[in-house]
Amino acid sequence: MAVRKIIRMGHPTLRRPARRLMPNEIGSEDLRRLVADMCDTLHDYAGIGLAAPQIDEPIRLAIIEIEGGESRYGELANLPLTVFVNPEIEVMNPSCVGFWEGCLSVPGLRGFVERPQHVRITYQDLDGGSCQLELKGFFATVAQHEFDHLDGRLYIDHIDDWSLLMFEEEFQRYHLAPD
Ligand code: NI
Repeated sequence: MAVRKIIRMGHPTLRRPARRLMPNEIGSEDLRRLVADMCDTLHDYAGIGLAAPQIDEPIRLAIIEIEGGESRYGELANLPLTVFVNPEIEVMNPSCVGFWEGCLSVPGLRGFVERPQHVRITYQDLDGGSCQLELKGFFATVAQHEFDHLDGRLYIDHIDDWSLLMFEEEFQRYHLAPD
């Protein structure tokens, strides 16, 4: 078990495009160990997604794991742990829906971001196999958020209305929809 430190906004790695993984790296023990560390880190920080640049590894690799049920993002369906190597994202439907996003690299804040709600992801798995996955709704938002990290972008870059960026505590207090 190795929980890695998550770097925060201001660290230059978060603003640099990450490099693609080479065929000889995919399937290697080094990469498996790194993904295991990313999983340990994601669980330790109780997140739903983590991109390798967030632990200062500037490569095109991200994991997403969403446990269905009640969460700080509301009631969610289940998305089992998925490892995305060299993901490419394609918008299937450009109509946008907004969600309150947060980021382990921008701790303590929440912001309202609108993004396309139907995307197709083409990626490789840890063995180098070619995979495709279509995601809708909140899952589509999470994928776009994570893959933005591979291009040096943060969710705050997408905020249109700056009055909708706030601290977690004030978000809970004033903006969370009452039950
Ligand atoms: Ni993030």
